[in-house]
Amino acid sequence: MERTWWKEDVVYQIWPRSFNDSNGDGIGDLNGIIQKLDYLKELGISVIWLNPIYQSPMDDMGYDISDYRKIWPGFGTMEDFDQLLREVHRRGMRLIMDLVVNHTSDEHPWFQESKTSRTNGKADWYIWRDEPNNWGSYFGGSAWTYVKERSQYYLHTFSRKQPELNWECEAVREAVWEMMRFWGDKGIDGFRMDVVNGLSKDTSFPDGKPWSTGFGDPTPYVKNGPKIHDYLREMNQEVLSRYDWLTVGEGSGNTPEEGLLYVGRDRHELDECFIFTTMEALKPSPANGYRIEPVDLAAFKQERARWMTGLERGGWSSCYLENHDLVRSVSRFGKDDPLAAKMLATVVLFEEGTPYIYMGEELGMTNYPFTDKAQFRDLQGKSDWDNMERLGFSKDQILKVLQLQGRDNGRTPMQWTSGAEAGFTTGKSWIGVNPNKQTINVKSEEKDPDSVLAFYKQAIRIRRQHLAAQYGSFSLVDKDNGQVYAWTRSVDGETLFVACNFTDQMQPFPIPEGKKVLGNYDGILKGQLRPYEAVVVSC
Ligand code: NOJ
Repeated sequence: MERTWWKEDVVYQIWPRSFNDSNGDGIGDLNGIIQKLDYLKELGISVIWLNPIYQSPMDDMGYDISDYRKIWPGFGTMEDFDQLLREVHRRGMRLIMDLVVNHTSDEHPWFQESKTSRTNGKADWYIWRDEPNNWGSYFGGSAWTYVKERSQYYLHTFSRKQPELNWECEAVREAVWEMMRFWGDKGIDGFRMDVVNGLSKDTSFPDGKPWSTGFGDPTPYVKNGPKIHDYLREMNQEVLSRYDWLTVGEGSGNTPEEGLLYVGRDRHELDECFIFTTMEALKPSPANGYRIEPVDLAAFKQERARWMTGLERGGWSSCYLENHDLVRSVSRFGKDDPLAAKMLATVVLFEEGTPYIYMGEELGMTNYPFTDKAQFRDLQGKSDWDNMERLGFSKDQILKVLQLQGRDNGRTPMQWTSGAEAGFTTGKSWIGVNPNKQTINVKSEEKDPDSVLAFYKQAIRIRRQHLAAQYGSFSLVDKDNGQVYAWTRSVDGETLFVACNFTDQMQPFPIPEGKKVLGNYDGILKGQLRPYEAVVVSC
């Protein structure tokens, strides 16, 4: 057992635009985060991951960066950032940033120069082709956009304002290493790496299998490309090995075997990768014609188990049920019931790997009751709306699909109070505030010993007290049970047994003898789990 801080820590993800607004402009900011650091300390988390805060035209909410060394003015200044980092460290916590280097903004000076001609100094910094293939963008439309000056097309698997960097070009890689060292030398504690399995492409650019929209799927040709591990080893050598960092890779579509190639300790690439496939599988998308599938709990937990046990072979995983790209987990799995929110907390905090909590998840925040296209802000949600309209979906059907995958559901403001704008801003929030702020909010939950927030605090504390919760190896129990997700975690003579009822009905389920260390009901019933019951027993 190799002990390391990032295996024992709990990470809290902040979507800065919606966390806390200090200046009344309706948009969260860095000073707003500073004001809430004591809240986070009290919660018990130890690492904060910030979604992108860099200079950006905000086409994709900051995942389109036009200057990697500046802060977007809506979030504050570099002085504010330095202050935030100091304040985080002063409280004994750590801060990791988002690294978005699969693409830049089209307004980045690198792209501005690259697009001027086929001969300029940065002509090969992006991916240019004379003819497009059939690939579609994940955000709708073609993945290629024509530029008159070069009479060529550039690749963007996301929006047309997110041209993809050409990692084959050594100068690009060097510029990225230099930028990462800039942040490293400021003292940050690591990076969450966006689309990290997409940096190397199949440069023969074959057509892809058509989606329901008619465009071809680029995925097999832009993920886990032939040079990806060369690039990451180079990154490790040039940057990562110089710092005591946590690095965690987003790797959509990866299998556990592929994941292990990124995080195997002997491979000298990254530290952790997200268990991705289990959450992505729950999303209706253009790839499946926006078909709504019920959650298949047996398949879901078996896939998570496959990841956790797969990564035990020398890697490390990261457990999450929410982030800024997903809907709220309690709405997805538990009909907005606080008992279900506590049960899901038990999943994230007691599975194997570093837990990632997304802001508001610790309150049991739910999806937003969207009723109209005009309420959506996310470019993907809007493009999905248009796609579904073209496919003949009714408004009701579209809203149903978006309740299952619309990213804006997770992006509404953090609910601090029941007051105006949920105490998030003194102005007018940039996106709708969930009306259930009346009951789901920090202020009331802090006063209620039975709240979701109180449960999170307790669960985090208990996780810290049990080595088995941090390092225990994972073993799935009753693997075909489609109602209950149960497992054990064992290390150094201790076994924790965890059982989570994913239904709103009683379920027959034997709990072994032992000392109950956590649960969302009083006591334990013999042979039964109550609706959404979660229980952790030390055997
Ligand atoms: C993954 C990020 O999590 C998502 O929010 C973003 O839109 C895409 N990558 C493109 O950067």
